[in-house]
Amino acid sequence: MQEKIIILDFGSQTTQLIGRRVRELNTYCEIVPYNKFPYGDESVIGVILSGSPFSVYDDKAFKMDINTLRGKLPILGICYGAQMMAYENGGKVEGAPSREYGRAHLTTVEENNPLLHNVPVGSQVWMSHGDTITALPEGFHHIASTNEVPVAAYQAEGEQLWGVQFHPEVFHSECGMQVLSNFVVGICGSRQDWSAASFIETTVASLREQLGNDKVVLGLSGGVDSSVAAVLLNKAIGKNLTCIFVDHGMLRKDEFRNVLHDYECLGLNVIGVDASAKFFSELAGVTDPERKRKIIGKGFIDVFDEEAHKIQDVKWLAQGTIYPDCIESLSITGTTIKSHHNVGGLPEKMNLKLCEPLRLLFKDEVRAVGRELGMPEHLIKRHPFPGPGLAVRILGDITPEKVAVLQEADHIFIQGLRDAGLYDKVWQAGVILLPVQSVGVMGDERTYERAVALRAVTSTDAMTADWAHLPYEFLGKVSNEIINKVRGVNRVTYDISSKPPSTIEWE
Ligand code: XMP
Repeated sequence: MQEKIIILDFGSQTTQLIGRRVRELNTYCEIVPYNKFPYGDESVIGVILSGSPFSVYDDKAFKMDINTLRGKLPILGICYGAQMMAYENGGKVEGAPSREYGRAHLTTVEENNPLLHNVPVGSQVWMSHGDTITALPEGFHHIASTNEVPVAAYQAEGEQLWGVQFHPEVFHSECGMQVLSNFVVGICGSRQDWSAASFIETTVASLREQLGNDKVVLGLSGGVDSSVAAVLLNKAIGKNLTCIFVDHGMLRKDEFRNVLHDYECLGLNVIGVDASAKFFSELAGVTDPERKRKIIGKGFIDVFDEEAHKIQDVKWLAQGTIYPDCIESLSITGTTIKSHHNVGGLPEKMNLKLCEPLRLLFKDEVRAVGRELGMPEHLIKRHPFPGPGLAVRILGDITPEKVAVLQEADHIFIQGLRDAGLYDKVWQAGVILLPVQSVGVMGDERTYERAVALRAVTSTDAMTADWAHLPYEFLGKVSNEIINKVRGVNRVTYDISSKPPSTIEWE
């Protein structure tokens, strides 16, 4: 049985990060809404309560009855989780007189407490809550403090129940990993056997059981997630998997051909469909970004559906959905995290059962699985690329001629990043074709041609991003090359906006 830690989500921004850290300890975990604890699941070895945007004394604050778990499993409350357990058991939580946001240092530590094993006095911790526990319930005692916060951590006497007011999951808490490891490994007794290899082994076995001899179709996009899902399914069910890769005409230069070749080398049963003419005709004259997206989304579904119907007896639609894609549906605070459902509606239209073998993985774990499956690095490390492709990087209407111009400029930029060893240092990059013409001079000729913008960002999850601080020399070289080689472009700009308030794509 795959043992796991359950993380109860009270809506904090850092809940995902807790999950990630637990997985870094080679321990499988699942994040579930605060009121959805899987009672009766015997594979659970411990529980972590996350932070929350609320204060425990707010009317709207999320609450769960921790007494249903006390004495049965080890429990660790983080920030709000710690406050809620204290408050609900008769302790006091108040708005802090001095709000201890950010950096703090532990001034006392109960060294022989199992949660604080190897956590030295003076360790930097990161606080992010304006509230503080001012009185602990009876039978609870504090085990660490900072200058401002007497109860930085506590334990319920003689029980496997702890609370920490700081955030061990964030990078700035120096001893954070130690605290989490003390809990997950030392206290919960994790065997630390969660790895890419063990994931593949258990997933392949369960896919075989789930799918039997059924036929499955999967839409490939060239991206990491759908590719890894395909290779995993191929390992499980071989030729019963048919992959469909649609060229909507707005992929990168030569991408359709190259990626199709990669897929064939991986032994996938793949059908490549060149549907670019259909898409160009449907997009002709359309300038509104949302309409462009809708046309491409719908066109994709139509093409995919038509191809899938040529295969007899298909029962399942497989998708490379990964964990962050599911968060929106799990989100309990109602904060909508932007997501892009390119093929939303496909499962409904096709009336197929859904198979999503990667739905519990984070992106870096998907990459690790891909590597373990022997996939080539260039597929695994490929930058994210939007489903509607270059259509959302051509501002205004789309024509094959504009796509060709953009493909050339984009190719120079991306190849340049690779040659300079910068490709893996940025999260994603691309070129945007602007609906602007400007005056230039080439030789003795006046030109009046298009401007493009280069966009490169650093990020960890695309939810926030910073513009990549690429070297000036590099930008200069790329700019020269684009202007000299790409006909129709006489000006190159660099986008220095971060997200928020901008977004990564321009449309
Ligand atoms: P934004 O522009 O929202 O992009 O900052 C965040 C990430 O999502 C990608 N993106 C898309 N992906 N379909 C997709 O599959 C889309 O319509 C779409 N729009 C943006 C974007 O490239 C970035 O990685």
